[in-house]
Amino acid sequence: MRVLLAGATGVLGRELLPLLRKAGHHVTALVRGPAQDLDADAVVTGDLLDGPGLVAAVAAARPEVVVHQVTALRPVSGDTRWEVFERTAHVRRVGTANLVDAARAAGARRIVAQSIAFATAPCGDPVLAEDAPLYVEAPDATWALTVQAVAALERTVLDAADLAPIVLRYGSLYGQYTLYDASGAIGQAVHLGRLPLVGDGAGLTSFVTVRDAALATVLAVGHPATGVFNIVDDAPAPAHSWLPGYADLLGAPEPKRIPVDLGERLLGWYGAYQQTRQRGASNAKARRELGWRPTVPTWEDGICQAHAEAVRSQA
Ligand SMILES: NC(=O)c1ccc[n+]([C@@H]2O[C@H](COP(=O)([O-])OP(=O)(O)OC[C@H]3O[C@@H](n4cnc5c(N)ncnc54)[C@H](OP(=O)(O)O)[C@@H]3O)[C@@H](O)[C@H]2O)c1
Repeated sequence: MRVLLAGATGVLGRELLPLLRKAGHHVTALVRGPAQDLDADAVVTGDLLDGPGLVAAVAAARPEVVVHQVTALRPVSGDTRWEVFERTAHVRRVGTANLVDAARAAGARRIVAQSIAFATAPCGDPVLAEDAPLYVEAPDATWALTVQAVAALERTVLDAADLAPIVLRYGSLYGQYTLYDASGAIGQAVHLGRLPLVGDGAGLTSFVTVRDAALATVLAVGHPATGVFNIVDDAPAPAHSWLPGYADLLGAPEPKRIPVDLGERLLGWYGAYQQTRQRGASNAKARRELGWRPTVPTWEDGICQAHAEAVRSQA
């Protein structure tokens, strides 16, 4: 099939592009600037925030399927945290609407969009399915803005019923170039003993490797299913397990335990919330309806594999 990949230069996009081509698709990468190192079948230039330019760029690719992997989370130097999240919220709202319009104008018949599995409100079961409410009224302004924009993105995509829409809610991505990579922001904080364990550490994080998220996306491109699917591993991990385990693997000091109020001051509201109250996400629907399963079933398996690979590559 002819696939247009928006966000081809991102963490997910770079993993996804060769997998789509290996699956036999003709892939056009949508990029904003020069990207000579991308091994795509074709490249078109466009920005999700420039509606008319985007319509022309997508039309040139003549895609049957449009894959949306655009976020603006990568900080530009000098950005405040608020600016990064505000920019991402803007691209999720306005950019997604533009991409849906451009896909439709180009005659595409399917759209596959990235979302997040950890935007649910902390109510009910510890591990939640796709029908759980989103935390649009989170008490923290940054998180409320993020979740509201995620909800808007999902609505915009799912309302495009003529495009057989599917939304993939990835768990917290780990692997090369992510925050949880040994050289990523969280990996570094753990390594330096600067990521304390907050409160009881009972908050759950549903992780997924970048590769497993990309494999699920390839599956979704060729599958008829529509709707929302959590793409997460099998074992949502409490902070009191993954954080000391990760520190141990990195040979880092054991994370200090601190109370929640101090955690909020040091790590910000989301950092403390993730470790104490965040719910996990279930992959049962993706297993049942897409036939997807993670090749790396638990965070422990994945982080040990990544560590072993890093040690091997240094040897
Ligand atoms: N999922 C989350 O909510 C979340 C939260 C915190 C951190 N993270 C981390 O963020 C990373 C997520 O990876 P990702 O692949 O989703 O994001 P990413 O690596 O930041 O890639 C984003 C992609 O979107 C493109 N893009 C941004 N703005 C655009 C615009 N206006 N028009 C067209 N393209 C645009 C970028 O292109 P350019 O190359 O032109 O910039 C890039 O290809 C992971 O490392 C994850 O650990 C994720």
